[in-house]
Amino acid sequence: MRIRRKPWARPELEACPFYTEHPAEYAGRWNEWFGNGKPIRVELGCGKGGFISQQAVNDPDNNYIGVDLIDAMLGLAKRNVERAYAEVGREPDNVRLVTLDIERLFLMFREGEDVIDRIYINFCNPWPRPKQHKKRLTHTRQLMTYRRFLKPGGEIWFKTDSDMLFDASLRYFAEAGFTQVYLTRDLHASGFTGSIPTEHERMFTEEGIPTKFVIMRRDELPGAETE
Ligand SMILES: C[S@@+](CC[C@H](N)C(=O)[O-])C[C@H]1O[C@@H](n2cnc3c(N)ncnc32)[C@H](O)[C@@H]1O
Repeated sequence: MRIRRKPWARPELEACPFYTEHPAEYAGRWNEWFGNGKPIRVELGCGKGGFISQQAVNDPDNNYIGVDLIDAMLGLAKRNVERAYAEVGREPDNVRLVTLDIERLFLMFREGEDVIDRIYINFCNPWPRPKQHKKRLTHTRQLMTYRRFLKPGGEIWFKTDSDMLFDASLRYFAEAGFTQVYLTRDLHASGFTGSIPTEHERMFTEEGIPTKFVIMRRDELPGAETE
């Protein structure tokens, strides 16, 4: 997603109490920062925050961390979070925003710290060229990293417009020891109501492109007796 630079984003983020550009400092301490003992869910590539702001405000029983790389995106996400909570007269107490390259996500957690119970991956870059496949957020290599902090039985909720990425991801999930819980190739025609639309989802839906959606559960690795 292309986005213009937003000179206000960096200073606003630095002053924001629910934002950090040093997520490694919270490795092993996410529960402490939230201070409420609730389960934690992560959105990878949260973009402008349309999804996480609504998801978090609608679901006060869980905590949410939105991860992105780009200040302009996170600045808009911060404003969307503030707006969503102001509308219901609450403080954003169950949401955090983080600057981090997802390829370095392991920095956010201690080794073996399975503290996350759900990961959302919404409309990530399909990286179509074979040489780029390893960069896909659903690539087996990435999924193996997520296993390090996703609880056993924890889920990944993945949405995309791309059939090619979706089909490849189903293979990646199987290779990385994930079991399918739910799958649809047309989310909006499926009757599934538990998923808030993202900015990209709205755009692709207007273009008539169906949203492919799968819920995958972390199980044992193929061939592994116990982990
Ligand atoms: C195509 S946009 C999708 C945004 C949003 N999830 C949606 O569905 O509208 C992908 C987002 O992922 C972020 N992103 C891509 N690669 C990333 C990486 N390696 N680390 C962190 N964020 C990344 C981009 O900055 C962008 O905001």
